[in-house]
Amino acid sequence: MAKLSPSILGCDYLELGKACKVLEECSTDMLHLDVMDGIFVPNISFGCPVIDSIKKHTSIPLDIHLMIDRPLRYIKDFAKYADYLGFHYEAGSDINETLDAIHSFGCKTCLTIKPNTKAEAIFEYLPKCDMVLVMSVEPGFGGQSFMPSALDKLRALKAECLEKGLNVLLEVDGGVNEETGKLCVEAGADVLVVGSALFKAESLSEKAKEYMAL
Ligand code: DX5
Ligand code: ZN
Repeated sequence: MAKLSPSILGCDYLELGKACKVLEECSTDMLHLDVMDGIFVPNISFGCPVIDSIKKHTSIPLDIHLMIDRPLRYIKDFAKYADYLGFHYEAGSDINETLDAIHSFGCKTCLTIKPNTKAEAIFEYLPKCDMVLVMSVEPGFGGQSFMPSALDKLRALKAECLEKGLNVLLEVDGGVNEETGKLCVEAGADVLVVGSALFKAESLSEKAKEYMAL
């Protein structure tokens, strides 16, 4: 069974409070929050003030996906809210230092790779990772098509973790729907990030339950 981390990027923000309550009632495992700075990715989303309101409103653990340049500068700010605090391997901060900083604030780490980054590039950091996020689209926008190359990366990461005896959750993000989500779970994904496929559904709670059963 997969864990579900709904991405609110797919939500109507005026309905966000209601959506959080619905997701809390169906016990989704986490809530995925996409922070974009318009530099690391060509889009701007939201930052700490919005996350502060969400944190006050819900008990769902927050899975914060930083798509920002040199994320080490902002770890302290976002650590206040995060259960899992994720940043990109490609974003220009020292990886070990950033992973250590996240742990020093009592959060779990999530090292994230873009579609053009090989899984092997992050093998050396896995001992410090609580979760790894494999992007299955170019980060920046919801509603894109799933890139099947993510499946091989999930398999490679799963095999490496098994071989080294590491307990790292594997998360996948981008273009996940019922069909691609199933393939991801078969390839070793533990956590599915779902944005548009979830929030465009007629019943958010029914759809969330379906994903959690994958
Ligand atoms: C994209 C974000 C995703 C996005 C996924 O950069 O990281 O979390 O919201 O949206 P869908 O599920 O629509 O691809
Ligand atoms: Zn994301």
